[in-house]
Amino acid sequence: MKPKLLPIHIYGDSILREKLPECSLDDAKLKDFIRDLSYTMYQRDGVGLAANQVGSRLRMFVIDPEWAREEREPNPIVMINPVIESSDGETENEEGCISLPGIYANVRRPARITISYTTPDGERVTETVEGFKAVVIQHEYDHLEGVLFTDKVSTLAKLKLKRKLNDLAAQAVDGKNVREGLPDA
Ligand code: CO
Repeated sequence: MKPKLLPIHIYGDSILREKLPECSLDDAKLKDFIRDLSYTMYQRDGVGLAANQVGSRLRMFVIDPEWAREEREPNPIVMINPVIESSDGETENEEGCISLPGIYANVRRPARITISYTTPDGERVTETVEGFKAVVIQHEYDHLEGVLFTDKVSTLAKLKLKRKLNDLAAQAVDGKNVREGLPDA
């Protein structure tokens, strides 16, 4: 079956503010969903995409932190029911988000994290990560908690972004703000 481009839920959509409950790996639709989630991430030129960004409440995300930097084969990493066990250090990076088109800001986060998660094969894995991969994982993990990167920026940066955020949220109807298809290049 051909992978499907999933609709993107944009800032102002209430599902982006939901804390997603742990999900079961027995879900028959899981495999298709993972394939579609990954496909949609690459089609959007993203390095990470969380389930609620495409309207699903499965507690999982996909990442491919190397994707934007190198011309190479896709290597999607799916993390199901992830738990950040510990974190330390500090790093600041400019972040963006497929659900917040046109918005970028510096975000401070721990530089190193230990995360455990379940793979699509059902294996529970624990690993310690740092660098850009750690930033991407924390950004996606936040989505599963209903948190967006703009919640974490400085007060001044928040003020600067306010108008753009309000413009995005103004497009929401009944708590939904969904974009089908690919944006214009
Ligand atoms: Co995001």
